[in-house]
Amino acid sequence: MVNRCSKLVLVCVVSFFLLIDCTVEQQFLVSRQERLALLQLRSSLGLRAKEWPLKSDPCTAWAGIKCTNGRVTVINVSGFKRTRKGSQNPQFLVDALQSFTFLSSFNASNLALPGSIPEWFGLRLGSLQVLDLRSCSIVGTIPFSLGNLSSLAELHLSDNNLTGIVPTSLGQLLLLSVLDLSQNSLTGLIPRTFSALGNLTFLDMSLNFFSGAIPLEIGTLSRLQYLNLSGNSLSSSIPAQLSDLSNLVDLDLSINSLLGSIPPGLRGLKNLQKLIIGNNFLSGTLPGDLFPPLTQLQHLVLSHNSFTGDFPVVLWSMPQLRFLDASRNNFTGTLPDLSLNANASVAVFNISQNFFYGNLTSVIRRLRFIDVSGNYLQGRVPDYASGNTPLSRNCLRNVASQRSASECASFYAERGLVFDNFGMPNGTQPLAPKSDKTHREVIILASVLGAAGLIALLAIVFVLLILCKRKTGATNQRSIGVGPVPANGSSPLGASLNFSSLGDAFTYKQILEATGEYSDLNLIKNGHSGDFFRGILENANPIVVKKFDLRSSVKKEAYMLELDLFSKVSHQRLVPLLGHCLENENEKFLIYKYMPNEDLSSSLFKKTNSDDGSLQSLDWITRLKIAIGAAEGLCYLHHECNPPFVHRDIQASSILLDDKFEVRLGSLSEICVQERDTNQNSITRLLRLPPSSDQGTSGTWDFLKH
Ligand SMILES: *[C@@H]1O[C@H](CO)[C@@H](O)[C@H](O)[C@H]1NC(C)=O
Ligand SMILES: *[C@@H]1O[C@H](CO)[C@@H](O)[C@H](O)[C@H]1NC(C)=O
Ligand SMILES: *[C@@H]1O[C@H](CO)[C@@H](O)[C@H](O)[C@H]1NC(C)=O
Ligand SMILES: *[C@@H]1O[C@H](CO)[C@@H](O)[C@H](O)[C@H]1NC(C)=O
Ligand SMILES: *[C@@H]1O[C@H](CO)[C@@H](O)[C@H](O)[C@H]1NC(C)=O
Ligand SMILES: *[C@@H]1O[C@H](CO)[C@@H](O)[C@H](O)[C@H]1NC(C)=O
Ligand SMILES: *[C@@H]1O[C@H](CO)[C@@H](O)[C@H](O)[C@H]1NC(C)=O
Ligand SMILES: *[C@@H]1O[C@H](CO)[C@@H](O)[C@H](O)[C@H]1NC(C)=O
Ligand SMILES: *[C@@H]1O[C@H](CO)[C@@H](O)[C@H](O)[C@H]1NC(C)=O
Ligand SMILES: *[C@@H]1O[C@H](CO)[C@@H](O)[C@H](O)[C@H]1NC(C)=O
Ligand SMILES: *[C@@H]1O[C@H](CO)[C@@H](O)[C@H](O)[C@H]1NC(C)=O
Repeated sequence: MVNRCSKLVLVCVVSFFLLIDCTVEQQFLVSRQERLALLQLRSSLGLRAKEWPLKSDPCTAWAGIKCTNGRVTVINVSGFKRTRKGSQNPQFLVDALQSFTFLSSFNASNLALPGSIPEWFGLRLGSLQVLDLRSCSIVGTIPFSLGNLSSLAELHLSDNNLTGIVPTSLGQLLLLSVLDLSQNSLTGLIPRTFSALGNLTFLDMSLNFFSGAIPLEIGTLSRLQYLNLSGNSLSSSIPAQLSDLSNLVDLDLSINSLLGSIPPGLRGLKNLQKLIIGNNFLSGTLPGDLFPPLTQLQHLVLSHNSFTGDFPVVLWSMPQLRFLDASRNNFTGTLPDLSLNANASVAVFNISQNFFYGNLTSVIRRLRFIDVSGNYLQGRVPDYASGNTPLSRNCLRNVASQRSASECASFYAERGLVFDNFGMPNGTQPLAPKSDKTHREVIILASVLGAAGLIALLAIVFVLLILCKRKTGATNQRSIGVGPVPANGSSPLGASLNFSSLGDAFTYKQILEATGEYSDLNLIKNGHSGDFFRGILENANPIVVKKFDLRSSVKKEAYMLELDLFSKVSHQRLVPLLGHCLENENEKFLIYKYMPNEDLSSSLFKKTNSDDGSLQSLDWITRLKIAIGAAEGLCYLHHECNPPFVHRDIQASSILLDDKFEVRLGSLSEICVQERDTNQNSITRLLRLPPSSDQGTSGTWDFLKH
């Protein structure tokens, strides 16, 4: 002993010179009884000699043991490995603990102690300040006696298999500052006696089966900084008394069955950084003035509730907000167009599955990431929205996986809003954006294959056409039936037109409304005979409008030719004319049925709905069907019409396809009447390119030139 003491003095002196604090805690264990108890504990828990070596002094050499004045005060066996024998049959055998009169901390977290907490814990460990038994595989109930541990400051029982109710006696632990009962199978009510835990700063009761209401008394825990009641079966509403918890930093009430609206008093929680109330049945509108006082708010989860009404604009520019999940609610309104503060550039927002509508705005660009999928946003997708913005299931143009036009139209109509997206066919996906760099190779490949496919297809058309001509040409006695084509471009049309075959008369106002006043978004193309626009009628039927500006003589002629054609012929292989609008002197309109599969050039290869950008190519049966359809259409014009017509503009974009991929020939203002002398080879004529705009020589063709 003398020898040891002199060694200690030497150590202290050396330490002193090395400026190392040499406190009394470095003393050796003085209690023979406690030494025996430690050995007993070592054997009952099956601990290894590696951590607790027999021959050395526990206070100085054993892992996790701390002593004060030669008595054990801290036992930390957290995560210890066991001997092979000890790990075969681990048990909650810690009777030896009763021998440590000064034990203030017992930490056995992550050490399996299957069994239940003995009743004597509360009666024999009176000096305990910290009890940490998390993840110890404990079963059974929390003993009532734990309420007698009057010095207890921290009680960690999380991640076990505790059952039964929480004893009300825990309310006697006046010094308790941390109480963690999370991740067990505890049931019953949250005890009202908790209101006495005036020193409590941390209360976690998440992931249990607590039911009933959140007790109002929780509002008296004025030091509380962390309150987590997530993942229980709590019902009733959020008590307004919570607003008294002015020190609260984290509040998590998510995944319960809470009802009602958010009490406006919560604006008293001025230190709140996390507010998580997702996955409940909360409803009502969010008071806009709730948030500005919460200047520290960083993390807000409102998802999976039934909140309604306008989304508070202030939330977009909360100074510290880094994460907002408002998904799956009934929030509505437009996205604001305001410049957010600098911190928004690190913020992640999720407003998916709500009822947001209107245009995408630059607010999207200012956030690091935002999920807006499953709303009713409309209009063109600006370049800046790609990349940080999931956009699916909206009413947007030029992106894939959107809602159907009728769904969008009725959403906007129900709310008396203007739906200005006419571009979308009913129930089909709009085409993906053309400038998609990541899929460039796929698209190049597709173009090459597409061109090859197109050439093959056109070849088949011509072969069929020749066959068709051989069959019908001999027998078909052509004669002039219907009236003559106007002799020159300026001849009056009205008299000779058969309006009954020109479909409905539309008013100019209807045309304006249908095309969104010729919105650029609805422009399909500027053809040389007229401009094509998409449109949607009041009854939600999609249409295509062709606008002829009669001030251009080329377009005037094209207009008259086409009007004339439709007044004379009607065939299921020609694009269906729904109507006309001839009200204005200088602008005339023809209205066609919308072709859901657009034209051959866009249908040959189509983007699939999957996001990988893969292209789906038309199957060969459909290709053959299209070839035959195109041939039938040409055959009709060429051999069944009197006088016969030549299309002169057969290309992939004039072969329109309806919903069943049946061919409907378009570009009909290129058509001309074929001369009646049959000496000329009709194939060479078919191959003639559409005439250029320069004036040609005189002849029968000239008056038809564009
Ligand atoms: C408890 O013991 C473990 C394992 O030795 C150690 O990692 C941990 O820091 C100790 N904790 C305390 C509070 O002493
Ligand atoms: C118990 O030990 C674990 C593991 O070392 C540690 O993380 C935990 O903080 C300790 N418990 C207490 C209450 O200090
Ligand atoms: C709780 O008990 C079940 C079996 O009843 C077991 O599968 C599970 O691992 C236990 N959980 C813990 C945390 O010990
Ligand atoms: C434990 O606390 C109960 C009250 O909850 C009290 O009646 C009992 O006397 C206490 N036991 C001891 C040993 O302190
Ligand atoms: C909080 O703890 C202190 C001792 O640290 C104690 O004096 C006081 O009574 C406790 N407060 C409450 C409200 O229980
Ligand atoms: C609340 O508890 C749950 C489950 O234990 C956990 O997932 C969640 O992160 C906790 N909330 C906060 C704010 O720490
Ligand atoms: C951004 O956040 C920091 C701390 O997270 C805060 O100090 C600062 O005021 C915030 N900036 C703005 C513009 O609100
Ligand atoms: C946004 O919320 C929805 C619904 O809660 C969820 O499905 C989606 O994964 C979230 N988006 C992101 C990017 O986390
Ligand atoms: C929210 O929207 C859904 C889907 O339209 C509807 O069924 C539900 O009644 C709405 N809830 C509220 C509270 O308005
Ligand atoms: C939406 O965007 C379109 C252009 O894409 C614009 O014409 C229209 O005015 C915008 N609507 C609103 C409400 O800003
Ligand atoms: C659009 O589709 C819906 C159902 O999918 C249908 O009721 C409606 O009549 C369609 N409208 C048009 C214009 O085809």
